[in-house]
Amino acid sequence: MRLLETHAIGASLERMDGRLKVMGTAPYAFEQRVERPAYLHAVQSAIARGRIRAIDTSAAERLAGVIAVITPRTAPRLACESNRELWVLQSDEIHFRGQFIAVVVAESLETARQAADLVRVEYDAAAHDVRFHAERTDLYAPKVVNPDYPTDTDEGDAAAAFGAAEVKVDATYSTPMEHNQPMEPHSTIALWDADRLTLYDSTQSAHSVRTTVAAMLGLPPGQVRVVSPYVGGGFGSKGEAHAHNILAALAALRVPGRAVKLALTRQQMFTLAGHRTPTIQRFRLGAHRDGRLTAIIHEVIEQTSRFKEFAEQTATPTRIMYAAANRRTSHRLAALDVPKPSWMRAPGETPGMFAGEVAMDELAVACGLDPIELRVRNEPERDPQSGKPWGNRHLVECLREGARRFGWSARDPRPLPRAEGSWLFGLGVASSTYPRYVLLGSRATIRLENDGRYAVQIGAADLGTGTWTTLTQVAADALECPVAAVRLEIGTTDQPNATVAGGSSGISSWGWAIVAAARELRRLHGVRPSPGAEASAETPKPPDDATFAQHSFGAQFAEVRVNRETGEVRVSRMLGVFSVGRIINPRLARSQLIGGMTMGLSMALHEESVMDERLGHIVNHDLAGYHIATNADAANLDAVWLDEVDDRSTPMGSRGIGEIGIVGAAAAIANAVYHATGRRVRDLPITPDKLMT
Ligand code: MOS
Repeated sequence: MRLLETHAIGASLERMDGRLKVMGTAPYAFEQRVERPAYLHAVQSAIARGRIRAIDTSAAERLAGVIAVITPRTAPRLACESNRELWVLQSDEIHFRGQFIAVVVAESLETARQAADLVRVEYDAAAHDVRFHAERTDLYAPKVVNPDYPTDTDEGDAAAAFGAAEVKVDATYSTPMEHNQPMEPHSTIALWDADRLTLYDSTQSAHSVRTTVAAMLGLPPGQVRVVSPYVGGGFGSKGEAHAHNILAALAALRVPGRAVKLALTRQQMFTLAGHRTPTIQRFRLGAHRDGRLTAIIHEVIEQTSRFKEFAEQTATPTRIMYAAANRRTSHRLAALDVPKPSWMRAPGETPGMFAGEVAMDELAVACGLDPIELRVRNEPERDPQSGKPWGNRHLVECLREGARRFGWSARDPRPLPRAEGSWLFGLGVASSTYPRYVLLGSRATIRLENDGRYAVQIGAADLGTGTWTTLTQVAADALECPVAAVRLEIGTTDQPNATVAGGSSGISSWGWAIVAAARELRRLHGVRPSPGAEASAETPKPPDDATFAQHSFGAQFAEVRVNRETGEVRVSRMLGVFSVGRIINPRLARSQLIGGMTMGLSMALHEESVMDERLGHIVNHDLAGYHIATNADAANLDAVWLDEVDDRSTPMGSRGIGEIGIVGAAAAIANAVYHATGRRVRDLPITPDKLMT
């Protein structure tokens, strides 16, 4: 099903929206022009569990410029109770610290914020519990893990095989709570016109925000319009509607015909936009002396909120990575008085592959094997989980190509301190993987306009990833026309339904709908259609998925320097080699992959949300306290890919690249730190204190 070659796919086009963004004229959600907007600022709970006893809004209401103060006692009722995260201002009950408990509508942002401070709240506090640790007696097994994987898997007799193994690794790894922190905070402008609602929203999925918000408000989806052409990052945190969307829609009811604007503050984003669960992961690997695995046991503990479950699929990559006859994986949850965890770039794979790929490094040391050779010896012929043959598994090629480019053969295999002045020096490697997801439910419409250009419509999102450009390339390729002959229309619910920009599924799912629509146009109107010709098609069920296991793979290489006196870790070089199918646009692909690797570096060395258990509060809730890698950290990163076209995965030959760049990056760095220092850090982030004590 390979498409005819054109220049459109594979061209390193510059971002089509780049000029608008650089000039500051691409309207992000909060910047959309509306007449005489009112502004919102929320009041948040100061306790983590209990009830509101009394709420006094009189001082706030007296402030000049305040239009309304809305509380659970005065808020309009929502139609649907099923999603407790979105059930805002409907009850006096408090589920986590920082929950929305009131909102001020005012003539200016400053007035709204000042008035919110004047709202007096009395609570009946209950004892809260935010303590995440492995010895909890109330850990439970969720029914499935995100989005619908089995919670546990069990093949053979892993415990017995581990017990009998010649070489064993038995170690516990932990990753902290992390917060996505896209540059653009979550923002919504809400405007009612009679019983129709418009949301200018910062989202990875205009249509799913529409569906969710409409259900909460009891409206038919057609009465909610969501507009989101430009988004300043999301990393999963904008993958679904959050409470602020509902808050804005409710508040706007108080000023009919007038728009209200709401942007979360940076501090609020540590409470109200999701987070990556902390994990505690026990890994047991049993192997023959030659490194061949006989047993793999991966047991994960993570957290969820008590009021709504989110179960991360942390152990799922372990199910497919390496061959062993005896394998067991499990997930257990601690339900705590915390906000609901959510998606953060490669949820599951990112923390799970940190633990698994450090454990493999420990096994390589235990067997006296090169870590690449260990992985090669455990390469499975088929997907160990499904038993299906691989659609395209090229992990070994990635490892070998990376070793060649990175200068791996010069590496002294001994994990001994080796110094250059006061800096110790080491190299590490880790594997990477991410599933190839195609989501069903997207539709594309193509129409030939009178000016001779094709209007290609699909409600897809560009959260900074490059969708405006790459979907144009996909359409031009499918229509066999120049890129300039395509006018792409994305980012709103005015266009046909599109699934979320998540799970690295965007281009695969939307692109497939566009290719199908282009074929339908040909079928109906021939290769030389006349203006007015139109066709529409949905993403089909991928025909090869029943037969093949479809995943991407990669190899991450890191070189670190660790300061003997201070414990500071610098990543001096990093290389990712990825097998991700055909690359639509090398310039933008490289940016996605390097972005993922940078986020992995950030995870390895910096990111950690610190919970004050007495209050249930994230104490480092700003970008001064919550460290994210900067340019100075990401000095010398490179990403390359194997030259491949994966016709089994999508008609474009591509497989999705938004997330694989982060997977394995932190493990490669941790393994390099071990190689440099002989110190095995199993708990992220690798801060200086962990190397100095
Ligand atoms: Mo991604 S965390 O699936 O948006």
